[in-house]
Amino acid sequence: MTTTALPAVDLAPVERILDAHAREQRSLIMILQDVQQEYRYLPRPALERVAEAVGVSRSHVFQLATFYRAFSLKPRGKHVCTVCLGTACHVRGAPRLVEHAERKAGIKASETTADLNLTLETVNCVGACALGPLVILDGQYHGNMTLSGLDRLLKGVKP
Ligand code: FES
Repeated sequence: MTTTALPAVDLAPVERILDAHAREQRSLIMILQDVQQEYRYLPRPALERVAEAVGVSRSHVFQLATFYRAFSLKPRGKHVCTVCLGTACHVRGAPRLVEHAERKAGIKASETTADLNLTLETVNCVGACALGPLVILDGQYHGNMTLSGLDRLLKGVKP
């Protein structure tokens, strides 16, 4: 099941983050990085507050937020499972891993479970082709992945 409603956002952490930085345009990326780390994504009300505090337009902040791949405007799960679909991983069965993970998690790739526990993503080659098919769970690389290995990984991050 996918998220249908955005969670309510407590802006207190944004104020703490703003207090830790100079409120000027050159601090913007660092502020957004901290906001992303705090919420695991960039909530719209947080971006609006950052724009106001730093004295730049909302559209400028949203442009930055959408330009960098490291930022997400959609809520992300506590855990992130990424299946590499680059050529080397693809020919070693990565598409089956994606289908399997989608079935197990009940979401499609690029989606997050309704309980915000798991985000499922795909990527095109992270340069570790010899390990393919490769799954990255919360930043840890798991090479030569199998369907049963993926089961074990996903079970390990169940709430
Ligand atoms: S194709 Fe998967 S790491 Fe290169």
